[in-house]
Amino acid sequence: MDRVGAGRPRIPTHLFSSTMTVRSDGHLLIGGVAARTIAEEVGTPVFVYDEDHIRARLREAVAAFSGTIAYASKAFLCRAMAEIVAEEGVHLDAASMGEIYVALQGGVSPAKIVFHGNNKSTRELEYATSIGVGRIVVDSFDELERLNALTQEPIDIWLRLTPGIEAHTHEFIRTGQDDSKFGFNVGNGDADRAVQWVANHRNLRLRGLHSHIGSQIFRLESFSEEVEVVAEFVQRYQLEELNLGGGLGVSYLEEETAPSVVDWVKAVDQAATRLGLAGETKLFLEPGRAIVATAGLTLYAVGTRKEIPGIRRYVSIDGGMSDNPRPVLYGSGYAVYAAERLFDLHDEEWSVAGKHCESGDIIVKDGLLPRDLRLGELLVTPVTGAYGYAMSSNYNKVPRPPVVFIGGGVMRVVVRGETLDDLVRLDA
Ligand code: LLP
Repeated sequence: MDRVGAGRPRIPTHLFSSTMTVRSDGHLLIGGVAARTIAEEVGTPVFVYDEDHIRARLREAVAAFSGTIAYASKAFLCRAMAEIVAEEGVHLDAASMGEIYVALQGGVSPAKIVFHGNNKSTRELEYATSIGVGRIVVDSFDELERLNALTQEPIDIWLRLTPGIEAHTHEFIRTGQDDSKFGFNVGNGDADRAVQWVANHRNLRLRGLHSHIGSQIFRLESFSEEVEVVAEFVQRYQLEELNLGGGLGVSYLEEETAPSVVDWVKAVDQAATRLGLAGETKLFLEPGRAIVATAGLTLYAVGTRKEIPGIRRYVSIDGGMSDNPRPVLYGSGYAVYAAERLFDLHDEEWSVAGKHCESGDIIVKDGLLPRDLRLGELLVTPVTGAYGYAMSSNYNKVPRPPVVFIGGGVMRVVVRGETLDDLVRLDA
């Protein structure tokens, strides 16, 4: 069995960042910093990011791709993350005024921001145009009209297409199919009508197209199919730019193997070349999860343990669906390990339960952990860097955990943990 600690230990390195190591006593280290040290300095739960891993993923994507990489900030954003994006010189995809604001706070140039959303408010559109975001991705006829009305200067836009592709992923995170709240439908002619609409309105300048078929996709052919549908469109209207969105999946479980970022950008490049886009059309990709998911992990402390004989063993942790709603929302699976004794046998089934008032608040169902789990010892769930902190909440008035970055062997708190005072900070 490919289990941690099962006799001869084999650590599933593909679920951890590149600077993860295991000390001779079985203790997890990130960039040389021990899990226990992190917990002692900032408490648990805590999101731990390996900054070097984030930079490495961005750099390899940039190096392997013929076009431009825009980091999809919805996966994880704070000022320090925006600073990395700015320093690495990549573009940034924002889906709200809030994401734009944080990106600017981190020094991202407005010209490198791509602004998305199926319901950008007029206020958001005014804000985006006033600061000069690089491209606005227009999603509907309604938005075309509103954007056209609020400007005298021509604005560079892309049109978001719904290419009619069923990506093989959870239905909540699929976006390319015909029945979607996003974009202009290719199949029913709306996309053509939108191109005509822009041609008849001087305030909007159509620079290209955008499409995004979904998220957590492992099948590279889905992306090639996407290129096929939209390439035809780009060529028909001789557009200069094409953004193919994000969506590359990552492995969350030991038995999963996802394509690498490099495999993905190369597959997109190859499809574009095959269809005659190379050299003619400037390509963009917007990875989110594939950049930050594996760079991040969560440390929790063990609390109540309970066994229902013949039914199940529960170990409760000091976080749960408020810091990781993905298991509840999508039924997502996570791996879990005893972070201070990775070489111990992990051979007993434990369901890792959150502390929230819902039976469904289970982070890992029937995970394998050591038999003698001790109060206060650390558990680690790897691959929580994407859509974890980003989707966290204060449910049950549980304060949000801190976020630490470890880079070059040095740890720093980049988002402090919320305090009890923070829980009433906004109360009027
Ligand atoms: N571009 C657009 C227009 C998007 O809507 C998204 C994700 C991305 C790029 C980045 O996709 P990624 O490379 O991260 O797959 N909360 C869900 C994922 C929702 C994704 C939304 N859009 C989850 O936790 O699985």
